[in-house]
Amino acid sequence: PIAKSLFGLDDLEDKIRTTYGLNKVIVVPGDCETSPFTKRELGRAGAKALLGVLRSDDTIAVTGGSTLAEMADQLTPPLSLSYKNAWVVPARGGLGESMEIQANTIASKMAKRMGANYRLLHVPDLLSEDAYQSLALDANIGEIVQIIRRSRIIVHGIGDAIEMTRRRKLDETTVSEIQEEGAVAESFGYYFNEEGQVVHTMLTMGLRLEDIIRTEVVVGIAGGKRKAKAIHAMLRFGQEDILVTDEAAAVEIGKEI
Ligand code: BG6
Repeated sequence: PIAKSLFGLDDLEDKIRTTYGLNKVIVVPGDCETSPFTKRELGRAGAKALLGVLRSDDTIAVTGGSTLAEMADQLTPPLSLSYKNAWVVPARGGLGESMEIQANTIASKMAKRMGANYRLLHVPDLLSEDAYQSLALDANIGEIVQIIRRSRIIVHGIGDAIEMTRRRKLDETTVSEIQEEGAVAESFGYYFNEEGQVVHTMLTMGLRLEDIIRTEVVVGIAGGKRKAKAIHAMLRFGQEDILVTDEAAAVEIGKEI
């Protein structure tokens, strides 16, 4: 707390929180893009924020990403609490990420750290319309998708739109499409423009936009100066309840409000 007031981060948290009507904003000092230490602190703050809202029988949907992977590593629930009736699930199907930072991996790691249950969604990324339709009819997949869509809490990362198209190895035509649509942010497989409107959707299974809108607690965790625009777009989308970010991103966002 002393360090925070020294950096003026308290004021920044308040400014972002009141401007976007969030319940809570947490800003950790530094820039996680250049400092692994800040990235760890971001993960730790994210884990703490999650534990602050978590109930013993919750269902939590998580996205992938290196930030969420850090959060899973830092999750240390108090030994006095039991989460044996809680569930952790991936927010959406595989989105073409490497194994370590896939939502499935993060969900199972978090569940193990909490002593909770998990279900995984083993579907390929980027489904064709046909594949999507037939997978949707599969009873097993249908069941897990129902669990995902009923989550009370969503914890998600936020990415720069173009960087995410590269990471997911989308073809050049799709990349230019997304660029022309003015996408600046990506989260849950949706691409958002600066105003926070969805401009592009990837065909994957799991959480849909309408689920995100009605979910009780949405926690966004992302930092780094280069992600400021993307985070800002997600704040304009208006579904976050808790934002966990770093100084580098928060300062940039603060300049525009
Ligand atoms: C992806 C999530 O896996 O990670 C996205 O599905 C998010 O929602 C992205 O945009 C962010 O990744 P990172 O590594 O920058 O935390």
